[in-house]
Amino acid sequence: MATASEIAAVGVIGAGQMGSGIAQLAAAAGCAVLLLDADSAALSRAVASISASLRRLAAKGQLSQTACEDSIKRIRCVSTVQDLRDADLVIEAIVENEDVKKQLFVELDEITKASAILASNTSSISITRLASATKRPSQVIGMHFFNPPPIMKLIEIIRGADTSDEVFAAVKSFSERLGKSVICSQDYPGFIVNRILMPMINEAFWALYTGVATKEDIDTGMKLGTNHPMGPLQLADFIGLDVCLSVLRVLHNGLGDNKYSPCPLLVQYVDAGRLGKKRGLGVYSYAQKSSSLKP
Ligand code: NAI
Repeated sequence: MATASEIAAVGVIGAGQMGSGIAQLAAAAGCAVLLLDADSAALSRAVASISASLRRLAAKGQLSQTACEDSIKRIRCVSTVQDLRDADLVIEAIVENEDVKKQLFVELDEITKASAILASNTSSISITRLASATKRPSQVIGMHFFNPPPIMKLIEIIRGADTSDEVFAAVKSFSERLGKSVICSQDYPGFIVNRILMPMINEAFWALYTGVATKEDIDTGMKLGTNHPMGPLQLADFIGLDVCLSVLRVLHNGLGDNKYSPCPLLVQYVDAGRLGKKRGLGVYSYAQKSSSLKP
């Protein structure tokens, strides 16, 4: 198994909001990145947004021009799981659906080299259950990045029931190589951050649903009253309302307490395709400019 400094080739599966940021980080840290998505349009969008993001950093002097262009060149888009056979570490960031992720882990287990570490960026799905789909549960681990990965300083590492100490140590050092601080969670629903964050977001939806206040006042209240950089409803839009709903369902099913039951308004927004900023509409509308929130 590769140690952190030996992780040279990283496969990233899912080129959406999270996967594209993770690919950028790994490329900037000097790794060869193989970026895979089921949707070729998502790959094109990811390459455009990674290139723009790295070039912005270079323009601000936070990265040399050469490092910027070299990082972009280190990312190769691929179209099949077979293309990941030489990866030392694969980080999965596809849709938050346990059956779909398990199927992918089965394929990765068959295709990747025996020493490869398989990581999931899942927000809430059990790492132990994903690991059980493979014949290498000691090499399966949660690597939970935050949105947007290049900016947010934290990686929450989740140890499955069988994750080995060596794999944990390698992933911890690799996360530090990406410039991140690390926290470690045991494998229980929602891990640390979402276990605490999602009930707050859900409560904000209940406050909106039951007419306690407007969305603006709920968000302003939490921003100025608790010194959060953004209100819970706006944060939910940034995370994706579909992601928030699936995490709440995992908490509700896994912990069995009605306090985690998703607010009907959140369910309705997701049913209506109002998935948040990534779709231009969630609690707020982002149709014109992503920076200007409109009621
Ligand atoms: P997204 O919807 O922006 O991107 C997901 C991508 O995965 C899409 O481009 C889709 O085409 C692709 N995909 C879906 N199924 C696939 C498959 N079987 N094979 C290959 N590609 C596939 O989603 P996002 O927000 O990037 O989330 C991805 C994962 O990261 C989820 O597990 C989510 O829970 C987790 N996560 C999300 C955070 C957020 O703030 N959005 C934060 C931390 C974790």
